[in-house]
Amino acid sequence: MIPFGDPSASYQTHKSEIDQAIKRVLDSGWYVLGTEVNEFEKEFASFHGKVFHAVGVANGTDAIALCLRALGLGTEDEIITSSHTAVATVAGIEQAGCTPVFADIDPNTRCIDPNSIKGRVGSKTRAIMPVHIYGQPAEMIRILEIAKTHNLAVIEDCSQAHGAEIRGQKVGTFADISAFSCYPTKNLGGTGDGGVILCRSKEFAEEIKSLRQYGWNEERVCITPGFNSRLDELQAAILRVKLRHLSDDNSKRRSIALRYNEELKDLPITLPALARNQLHAMHLYVIECDRRNELMKYLRSHQIGASLHYPLAVHQQTAYAHRIRGGDNLPVTDQFYEKNLTLPMYPELSNDTVGHIISMVQKWFREET
Ligand SMILES: Cc1ncc(COP(=O)(O)O)c(C=O)c1O
Repeated sequence: MIPFGDPSASYQTHKSEIDQAIKRVLDSGWYVLGTEVNEFEKEFASFHGKVFHAVGVANGTDAIALCLRALGLGTEDEIITSSHTAVATVAGIEQAGCTPVFADIDPNTRCIDPNSIKGRVGSKTRAIMPVHIYGQPAEMIRILEIAKTHNLAVIEDCSQAHGAEIRGQKVGTFADISAFSCYPTKNLGGTGDGGVILCRSKEFAEEIKSLRQYGWNEERVCITPGFNSRLDELQAAILRVKLRHLSDDNSKRRSIALRYNEELKDLPITLPALARNQLHAMHLYVIECDRRNELMKYLRSHQIGASLHYPLAVHQQTAYAHRIRGGDNLPVTDQFYEKNLTLPMYPELSNDTVGHIISMVQKWFREET
């Protein structure tokens, strides 16, 4: 089966550097929050520009919860986000004790729709959390304007968009604080769980460094109740290797997406929009088509790992159904979830394999429609 994403191909591509990094950590005898984490944090911050600070944490869900805690948000504070996201976005909001509220998405970007955000702002709203879904940057300029008007914080969920840009500015640098997952399938993925927070202020960074380890101060005395959300040295060392190749890997993803878009453009499907003034990180390549279940079944029966991201929007899942404000009025999201279909996308996909996937999609349309 050609998978929709392939972390093991990434390991094989960068094997010698990763093996060296692993050996360095094992030999060092220091396995959690050490030199590798410090260096990764510096390198991740400087990848985004010198004024930013980065803090490594245990996973992307914790990163979201820690961002909210660092902003002083908690019980009764409402955070507006989209239901079209990994459930982790909403889990992280609730983990911090905050209350998620859903806005609809823009059918073109598939990210949160600024107009829908405006309609959801209420007296308890404290923040907006746009998700750069599939690697597509959300409309940050308009979102920041709305936040300014209503005095709201903005937290970017960049878990699917490491290295994406809007007019040359990297996502994660628009808001004061941003969360990234480094789960193995991500564009910047380790070989286990990991996450990182990017923030403008040194004070926030220091606070998160304390919160990620029980709320300790330098004397290991708890100043505030915290978490255990430490990043381990092995993951940090591997992420340092992957970070060096991130821009190049993202370019490879974009070339594959351009080819998909070019060769599928005459079919009755909606393709991901690739705006000229943006760098899409192309984490997932998602099309929309009628009869997508039949197309998915056909592709899977021919060893092409077409998949769904996601099978259900968050508000459609049992744990969240009918209890999140805004969840009963998301027409664009609901429609998207009837048609979404993910095709394989990772930097190591060969030209031949991409050609094969394209020809199988074309064949299904020729024969079945
Ligand atoms: C959009 C989004 N937010 C948050 C997360 C949470 O990341 P993690 O699985 O590392 O907790 C993910 C990862 O699945 C994600 O895709």
